[in-house]
Amino acid sequence: MRSYLASLGVAGVVSACLVSGSAFANSMGISGRSGKQGSSLTCAECHSGGSAPTVTIEGPTTLAPGATGNYTLVVRGGPAAGAGYNVAVSDNGGTLNPGTGSYKLSGEVTHKNIQAFSGGAARFDFSLVAPSTPGTVTLYGAGNSVNENGTDEGDASAATTLNVTVATGGGNGDGDDGGGCAAAGGIPLLGAALVLLGTRLRRRR
Ligand code: HEC
Repeated sequence: MRSYLASLGVAGVVSACLVSGSAFANSMGISGRSGKQGSSLTCAECHSGGSAPTVTIEGPTTLAPGATGNYTLVVRGGPAAGAGYNVAVSDNGGTLNPGTGSYKLSGEVTHKNIQAFSGGAARFDFSLVAPSTPGTVTLYGAGNSVNENGTDEGDASAATTLNVTVATGGGNGDGDDGGGCAAAGGIPLLGAALVLLGTRLRRRR
């Protein structure tokens, strides 16, 4: 009898794991819920009950054709015990690649595990390889701030988009590391300005 009950218990745990591993594995990432496939197709389709977070995508808004830009989806506020996300790119080109803690799912990027908040925000890094043809690509992102109770209740999400202009002479994809501009483009630009100023001054004389 005892061993019968024990094996029932084991079977229960195994089937519970199978279910959570297949249909409900959202704490381990999800695709098709960035808002790209429809404004109602975000985490909010299932997750509700918490106070709403703010979600932003940070990174370069111009990229040269074929250049790689580094982006971060940032979740602030809400229940804030942990967070997850899903980002997709519009169909006119561009390839998403996951950063640390993320993976690629159906051509989109999402969290591997629930991510902790740090300094009031949960950050998810990914990159975008711009298409080779100029145009505007759109990043669609949804971030979910959760209470980590193991269900979709007491959580809340928000969605956002970021347009990236792909143009010759656009950003070289250094990303949003702050030093990128001054280090890569700032000094040559200053040099060019000084040269221009120099020619002007010379002409005046
Ligand atoms: C179709 C319904 C559904 C959608 C859509 C959905 N989830 Fe979930 N999610 C669940 C369920 C059910 C659970 C609880 C089981 C689990 O942890 O996987 C859950 C749990 C989670 C958890 C852990 C929550 C906690 O409090 O412990 C995170 C994080 C999460 N989902 C992220 C997301 C993100 C990010 C999105 C949107 C990009 C999303 N989910 C969209 C159903 C959904």
